Amino acid sequence: MCGIVGYVGDDAAPKILVEGLNRLAYRGYDSAGHALMNGSGIKIFKDVGSPEHIGQVVMKEKVMANSGISHTRWATHGGVTPSNSHPHLSNCGRIALVHNGVIENFVTLRNRLQQTGVTFHSETDTEVLCNLIASYYEDFRSEGHEDAFLHSVFAALREVKGSYGIAVMCGDQPGRIITARLGSSLVLGIGNGENMVASDAAAFCGRTNNIVYLDDGQVACLTGKDFEIFNLDNERVAAEICEVQSEHQEYERGDFPHFMLKEIFEQPEALRNSMRGRFSSDNSTTKFGGLNLEAKDLRRINRILFMGCGTAWHACLLAKYIIEKLARIPVDVEYASELRYRNAPIPDNTLVFVISQSGETADTLEALREMKRKGFETLAITNVVGSTIAHEAGGGIYQHVGPEIGVASTKAFSSQVLLTTMVGVFLGRLRDLSMSEGMRLVKGMQELPDKIVQVLQKASELEALAKKYAEYNDFLFLGRQMMFPLALEGALKLKEISYIHAEGYPAAEMKHGPLALVSPTCPSLFIAPEDEMIDKVASNIQEVKARGGPVIVITTEGSPLCDQEGIDVIAIPQTCESLMPILASIPLQLFSYYAAVARGCNVDRPRNLAKSVTVE
Ligand code: F6R
Repeated sequence: MCGIVGYVGDDAAPKILVEGLNRLAYRGYDSAGHALMNGSGIKIFKDVGSPEHIGQVVMKEKVMANSGISHTRWATHGGVTPSNSHPHLSNCGRIALVHNGVIENFVTLRNRLQQTGVTFHSETDTEVLCNLIASYYEDFRSEGHEDAFLHSVFAALREVKGSYGIAVMCGDQPGRIITARLGSSLVLGIGNGENMVASDAAAFCGRTNNIVYLDDGQVACLTGKDFEIFNLDNERVAAEICEVQSEHQEYERGDFPHFMLKEIFEQPEALRNSMRGRFSSDNSTTKFGGLNLEAKDLRRINRILFMGCGTAWHACLLAKYIIEKLARIPVDVEYASELRYRNAPIPDNTLVFVISQSGETADTLEALREMKRKGFETLAITNVVGSTIAHEAGGGIYQHVGPEIGVASTKAFSSQVLLTTMVGVFLGRLRDLSMSEGMRLVKGMQELPDKIVQVLQKASELEALAKKYAEYNDFLFLGRQMMFPLALEGALKLKEISYIHAEGYPAAEMKHGPLALVSPTCPSLFIAPEDEMIDKVASNIQEVKARGGPVIVITTEGSPLCDQEGIDVIAIPQTCESLMPILASIPLQLFSYYAAVARGCNVDRPRNLAKSVTVE
């Protein structure tokens, strides 16, 4: 969602901020802006549209500035208009602010400020916070306070309710940025003669690998030479500088036309990275460094609850099928957004697992906090190192698939499913899963990247198929057992990037309603590997064909479905049953991608969507 970048140092701020903001575009935006400071006040550039567009305006102006704050907005309070975009400038012109999150008591605060003569030029909660800081600043300054700027931020933040990640500048203090967070991620980039702040470390790429993760309730003061961190009571807090390895090319598309396609093709290597160092020396089980739970603790667990949102929720649903099969532990699956408001009876000895690529999804984070508050052991599967969820869960597993920039999740999903399968093997081997079965599964995992390469070689076949079907407006995705969550994921992938209406269903449920949708204008895509369900699914396919519905089938090489007439077939290699969802997800991703391209859609930035959903 919204993205923040701030820079203060010896170098020219505009170029650094423009580049940093462009790197955060993947989070989703509807408008963008910069506030630049050069000793003669604050200059604001903002507009609706892309960060690239506003960046070009800034670079053309050739502003001399050594500090600035920048923002991509994804509208929550107030429409998509230039005046609602950030940065906001206070009435007095001294305070500029960018903000992620939601100030819940902004109406009360706005009324109070209006009574003191403040006028508002936008509908946003952010402009209220900006003027609240400015009003404290004026008071403290007139009282001769020794650090009126810092204390005005403390005072304002003590009053607001809601969530925020902010970066603030004061026209009287060039070369200083104050930044603070509560519920919205912020990281500091510590450089040489320069310091930065951003919503995520992607913005620092190529400038610094030294990162400080700011915690909730912390306020940081940045100058070019130094940084200090405080709590809201003005007490100094020690900071830990972590070195993160991020490669420039991870944030570049290279020769690929879209990040989504690049990330689909990265999957063999991404999954190798997810598995690296996580097999026992005899290859009969898996191991994880960060669970923070001993084997004896894990043996006491008699239920697991998985939570997530969107694609991550589909990975949770697959975890249910896989872990119940391998470890014989009952697994419940909940949408994080639903569970957090439900008084769900959760039995003792339940292990809570959250899955989140970004580690910042607001609903997942709050559901995790609720479960921690109730005293459950919590673990997280996340991709972003140092993210809030990774930080707050009791332990966890990093995905190590590199940054996922395309809004539609691809490599993160396959890695989440792989890691839950590895958890299934680990827990199974602490119970009844035999050594030989463990070895068979580990071998299957080790062979998976090469099999994914074979599926990727079918990209042009899938492109032709997607072109053939791209003009349809409705789609059904159908599968049984482990292929059912995958049907949900295939439908989500298609609808989110191509805007084709698609629904996922268990194939056997067709007769209970969805069959009414089947017609020559509504194709059905079946995911039907050769397994114990194949005859049943073959019957479901006949039911659709008999009603004139076009049929696409993803099946395994050599399956009886390969020779059926009147259907389009994509054949993929066979693998262990528990690993098949990973392999079968690849053609679904490619099909959606090529369908969206054929329809002329903006694949990496689908309308209305943000990569990381940091508000409810
Ligand atoms: C869809 C997609 C989303 C995310 C969801 C959760 O392709 O990417 O549905 O899966 O917003 O995001 P994370 O995993 O970051 O919590």
